[in-house]
Amino acid sequence: MSEKVVLAYSGGLDTSVAIHWMKEKYGVDSICLSIDVGNSKNFEDARQRALKNGAVKAIVINAQDTFVKYFCWPALQANALYEGQYPLATALTRPLMAKLLVDTALAEGATSVAHGCTGKGNDQVRFDVGVHALAPQLKVLAPAREWKMTRDETIDYAKKHNIAITLSKKKSYSIDECLWGRAIETGVLEDPWNEPPADVYEWTKDPDKTPNKPTYVEITFEKGIPVAIDGEELDAVEIVNKMNALAGDNGVGRIDHIENRLVGIKSREVYEAPAAIVLMQAHKALEAMTMSKDQLRFKERVAIDMADIIYNGLWFSALNRDLSAYIQSSQRFVTGTVRVKLFKGTSMVVGRKAPKSLYNLSLATYDKGDKFDQSMAVGFIHLWGLPVATQAQVQLLGEKDSPLAIIPGPKQIADGKKPAKSKAVKAKKSSKK
Ligand code: ARG
Repeated sequence: MSEKVVLAYSGGLDTSVAIHWMKEKYGVDSICLSIDVGNSKNFEDARQRALKNGAVKAIVINAQDTFVKYFCWPALQANALYEGQYPLATALTRPLMAKLLVDTALAEGATSVAHGCTGKGNDQVRFDVGVHALAPQLKVLAPAREWKMTRDETIDYAKKHNIAITLSKKKSYSIDECLWGRAIETGVLEDPWNEPPADVYEWTKDPDKTPNKPTYVEITFEKGIPVAIDGEELDAVEIVNKMNALAGDNGVGRIDHIENRLVGIKSREVYEAPAAIVLMQAHKALEAMTMSKDQLRFKERVAIDMADIIYNGLWFSALNRDLSAYIQSSQRFVTGTVRVKLFKGTSMVVGRKAPKSLYNLSLATYDKGDKFDQSMAVGFIHLWGLPVATQAQVQLLGEKDSPLAIIPGPKQIADGKKPAKSKAVKAKKSSKK
């Protein structure tokens, strides 16, 4: 009897060819596992194609709800945005897929799992690290990392072996989708100077063609998790779907980024992530109202670390667990409602309210009812500025390049004298000659 491998099956060219290729190369039988994380694929078609292409079994798991609750929501609570741009859609799906591959392999008595990633991307890292962490006894096979076929050669291989494939008209992009976003790579996008053509976008309308009146949406959070839209309680998947539609219809959620991959390459990535972008914006606005300045500053640093953990395939690390515990704790008063205005490709928070808001009108107001004692400011400022005043007197006032000396004075400004160029700029100019 042949050994079995559980293959993460997308139904695309590479994974379809992989079934045959792995049988030929390793003698293994494939059990195909297709995981629905909210991609617009037809999973029944994929399942049938897997069987037609030689899989001994083909399974589809609808993991949408699990994906949102266990991956998107924690990422949202963390405000995890890789390099300040990418809401980590694909990156969040991979640890879930690794876990489902492992569980299926153990249940089916398989000795290995497989995925269709190449050797140039981040996804291979996320799959491999996840599987090695969860089940070190399983081997990980990555046929597309080994076979060294170009796309055309892969198509020839499929034809030669009668493999059923669905070739999109003219496959100009590499696309990966889940509820949290859509990633578009390759083709004309590989020249970073090219503006993404209209056909890369499917979830977001061109802001030229969006409604001429703004759309307002109210998002209610409980402990940092969205629970209702416009007062209507919805389940996790519905919330993400609804926000993708509302924001996408207003042209919100497009991202164009030169991204640092873990394997050392810079790559041009275009994303559509309407729900993720707007929910994160609203969530941050609610945090701004319900968390102290120090909590907010600290949490911003944690957000960068969380994004790196997720991006770099370290979901199953102790550090993720530790930081997640902090993030959970930080969310206990992040309950309330945020109003967002969506219009012509922009989204803007225009209102927020929270039962445990730290915003205090009697302290903030310039109107009557002001309880802020302004006379206290004098003493406070004196102590606050004491070290600055001391250092200015003792050290800085005599220095030529000090921040106090380099600003031109009234007479120089009146004479139209340009400020002196810094040495660095001068050096650069002369080296050009
Ligand atoms: N650059 C993104 C990431 O690393 C998106 C990857 C998309 N994956 C794909 N197979 N097209 O998470």
